[in-house]
Amino acid sequence: MTSIRPLVAGNWKMNGIDSSLAELGALREQLAEAPVAEADVMVCPPATLLSRAVEILAGTDIALGGQDCHPLPSGAHTGDISAEMLADAGATAVIVGHSERRIDHGENDALVKAKALAAYRADLTAIICIGETEAERRDGETLDVLKRQIQGSVPEEARAANTVMAYEPVWAIGSGLTPTLDDVAKVHGFIREVLGRLLGQAESEATRILYGGSVKPTNAAELLFVPDVNGALVGGASLKTTDFYGILAVYRDGAGG
Ligand code: PGA
Repeated sequence: MTSIRPLVAGNWKMNGIDSSLAELGALREQLAEAPVAEADVMVCPPATLLSRAVEILAGTDIALGGQDCHPLPSGAHTGDISAEMLADAGATAVIVGHSERRIDHGENDALVKAKALAAYRADLTAIICIGETEAERRDGETLDVLKRQIQGSVPEEARAANTVMAYEPVWAIGSGLTPTLDDVAKVHGFIREVLGRLLGQAESEATRILYGGSVKPTNAAELLFVPDVNGALVGGASLKTTDFYGILAVYRDGAGG
């Protein structure tokens, strides 16, 4: 499992206008000055900024992703964006099934699976998010919920090469709260086990499982070295380059560094 190359992906959510692109320029410069060769980096800005972000990041290894896509490639779906459009704008990945989509837009597992399939169709990596709510956690349902979400949202076609899983406990997102390191290890191990039953052990053991939910420079050195954690999906702390780079840098500096 240690051979999996980690990924740190920033999810800007509904934040970012033209002037915010300066943060990407700063990230580019920071990584040129002090590279972090040990991890892959991705930023998922709002779709409105993708094309401009591509220009700023040209010639770097910083990848770009979308935050959501429609299952269909095109058509009469006002306000929606297809995976093909994201690819055309320069994205190489797309987040699907984020809890904010599941909750705010009533997205269920079947829709998330259809969106993951749309990502594959457009040659994008699907970053499939799962996670329990506070109430589900309190009721001891965490593992049942995650199992159901994996079985319902991860297509049979998923492979380590086209899919990244992201475990994001809903109660940890934007709250400053994080699970204990033991809980993270237990849950990530469980996710890999369920994926193994679905996709086979070899694919499961090669698939990146990101942790997301209040990852900051101050807790990254602990969280990101938990067994079966292969990177982070970062919300709030991805908006400022100093914070985002601080998270990424733990892969160069090592656990506790
Ligand atoms: P947060 O968000 O880092 O602001 O908690 C994580 C996410 O929702 O991806």
